[in-house]
Amino acid sequence: MIDLSTGYMGLQLVNPLVASAGPLTESADNVRRMEDAGISAVVLPSLFQEQIELESTGLDLDLNRGGDGFYEALGYLPNLAHYNTGPEGYLERIARIKRAVRIPVIASFNGTTPSGWVRYVHQMEQAGADAIELNIYGIETNPFRSSDQVELDYISLVRQVKLAVKIPVSVKLTPFFSALTHMATCLVKAGADALVLFNRFYQPDFDLESLEVVPRLSLSTSEDLLMRLHWVAILYGNVNASLAITGGVHTAEDVLKSVMAGADVAMTTSALLKNGIGYARHILTGLERWMEEHEYESIRQMKGSMSHRSVADPTALERGNYMRVLSSYQLRART
Ligand SMILES: Cc1cc2nc3c(=O)[nH]c(=O)nc-3n(C[C@H](O)[C@H](O)[C@H](O)COP(=O)(O)O)c2cc1C
Repeated sequence: MIDLSTGYMGLQLVNPLVASAGPLTESADNVRRMEDAGISAVVLPSLFQEQIELESTGLDLDLNRGGDGFYEALGYLPNLAHYNTGPEGYLERIARIKRAVRIPVIASFNGTTPSGWVRYVHQMEQAGADAIELNIYGIETNPFRSSDQVELDYISLVRQVKLAVKIPVSVKLTPFFSALTHMATCLVKAGADALVLFNRFYQPDFDLESLEVVPRLSLSTSEDLLMRLHWVAILYGNVNASLAITGGVHTAEDVLKSVMAGADVAMTTSALLKNGIGYARHILTGLERWMEEHEYESIRQMKGSMSHRSVADPTALERGNYMRVLSSYQLRART
């Protein structure tokens, strides 16, 4: 009997396949189907800092009204009051989904700067969330804010969220830090129980006819996994926190690679959007089959086995490898 169980920031999960935040985890019905298909935990779609700020400033939601910058900026955002059912609806959703399933339910908050909204995570905890995933999806466009300031804000935010709740808190990160390992260490020192690598940045496109910037969301492929494997392999054993991979997990092999790099869980959204919720069962069956064929008894046994600490040649994960890869390509091109 193969033991697929894994621990993730103190949560005991029956296997490492988790559904990440996305449209499929919105409804209790879908989450129940995910549980039936073997998914071991779900992350709900995010509630956004802007939604709480909007509500607490008592602004009415006629976003086109008035000409000042704040209203104009809000006009670019979706209808915040109702997005993801809005703040009140979000708490009801947590409670509803918790009643529907036995697997852990992780609420997600998307924010970048500490402010009054942080108390809201406490309400998520009270609504029954088993953990909070804090998504720090920031795109810093202000030329006067240094990377230091941005990072200190993130660290302070994690500290405040941790103070507000007793349940575990994970931080969903961007890969764009110049010293990611140091930043990861700081976030863990600030209290992060897990790090989720990485946010996928949705790159806007240009419409050449209308000369508008248009949002474009493309689903991932397994190619997106590689950068995540690389960083999890480096962080494993270097930070005292659970690690999760999100981005590019589509197959049983992707889950295996994630665990071997050092992830406690492999999260997926695109694969389920493309193939349906039942596809999770296919991934898990493949996972078990592979482990059986390769005589692994447990997930625990393979965790981190391909990490920076464990591989025979760790320089393959470092800068030295860069030159090796480039030169091997040139050699191939000549032959
Ligand atoms: C339509 C859609 C909606 C998403 N909504 C959220 C969200 O609300 N909060 C969040 O943290 N991530 C959100 N994500 C990102 C996913 O949780 C996940 O991190 C990302 O899609 C990469 O994983 P994948 O390659 O398995 O899709 C969303 C992704 C998609 C495709």
